[in-house]
Amino acid sequence: MKRSARIGVAGATGAVGLEMLRVLEERSFPVEKLTAMASGRFDSRTVGFGGADLPVVPLTEENLADLDIVLFATGASVSREFVPVATAAGAVAIDNSRMFRMDPDVPLVVPEVNPQAMAGHGGVIANPNCSTIQIVLPLEVVRREAGLVRVVASTYQSVSGTGVAAIEELADQSRAVLDGEPAVSGVYPTQIAFNCLPHIDDFDEEGHTREERKMIDETRKILGIPGLGMAVTCVRVPVFRSHAVALNVETEHPLDPDEARVLLSAAPGVRVLDDPESAGYPTQVDTSDTDDVWVGRIRRDESVENGLWMWVVADNLRKGAALNAVQIAELLIDELPD
Ligand SMILES: NC(=O)c1ccc[n+]([C@@H]2O[C@H](COP(=O)([O-])OP(=O)(O)OC[C@H]3O[C@@H](n4cnc5c(N)ncnc54)[C@H](OP(=O)(O)O)[C@@H]3O)[C@@H](O)[C@H]2O)c1
Repeated sequence: MKRSARIGVAGATGAVGLEMLRVLEERSFPVEKLTAMASGRFDSRTVGFGGADLPVVPLTEENLADLDIVLFATGASVSREFVPVATAAGAVAIDNSRMFRMDPDVPLVVPEVNPQAMAGHGGVIANPNCSTIQIVLPLEVVRREAGLVRVVASTYQSVSGTGVAAIEELADQSRAVLDGEPAVSGVYPTQIAFNCLPHIDDFDEEGHTREERKMIDETRKILGIPGLGMAVTCVRVPVFRSHAVALNVETEHPLDPDEARVLLSAAPGVRVLDDPESAGYPTQVDTSDTDDVWVGRIRRDESVENGLWMWVVADNLRKGAALNAVQIAELLIDELPD
């Protein structure tokens, strides 16, 4: 890497923002100065970075000045307002919200899959949805070898995908249920403890959720296959961290499961764990706090001519959000002026 950079993290107190700070440190990202920003609703907060306690400052135009790269880990409405402020002040913004992902002028990037999309960016780069990120890595491997005809994905998404408040809600409800008390819901529409909700984000008129639409639209954009057949069901499960996806792929040409295992094992960012008889398959608990996209249960789908099943698990806060954003920043840093 060329030089050190002045980095801003917007939403630094949230589930993704806190993970961004960890990932920047762990990867020895060359940080000249770090500005940690959040809502300003609370006084005197700090976050740990580089062995020090950094003050959390409000996300304002003033605090966005003099930064090279701003990692946004804020919701869509906050990103809509402040990403343009950051870019007007001369920074490149890497945004984790859904706000800019489908803007044709904004690259939507997973560095192992489509780093070329960053060329000529206009100052904003979008980080995809967490479930999208983890499926496009194996899908790109399969696409290169055998072509893609249709993808069916069913997700099992952890509560940390909703943020800090949802992590607390699952913990509180679990304790309450075990103590024979009522489970009080605030973040989710109904009880999440010991329950699965086929409901992530709002429903549209056709009965799909926005999360399901995001996975379809973003996968097509990242892979550059606008007409890719896709069917998705997203489910929130009572798991704290890491998302799992049952991924069914129909390919143009045959792809033997053994060959798929070899190809996936060689792909950057992908780890194969596929010895099911000995419980050798990725789980959400085992993959939490890891960087790779884990693939197991690779097997033929015999109901179609060329079909393959995979079980794909990844830490939504790391590869699904913070790590992917920092990897984009690592690609950007070489283009910063000295
Ligand atoms: N969680 C995931 O796995 C995941 C994965 C991919 C993408 N994303 C996206 O990443 C973003 C953050 O998600 P999260 O899970 O980290 O949420 P979160 O835990 O709820 O954190 C939200 C952060 O935004 C800050 N914030 C809220 N209102 C603000 C305002 N008006 N001005 C400035 N900052 C404000 C909060 O600061 P305060 O502490 O001051 O309230 C907090 O730091 C969302 O767009 C989400 O869709 C999340």
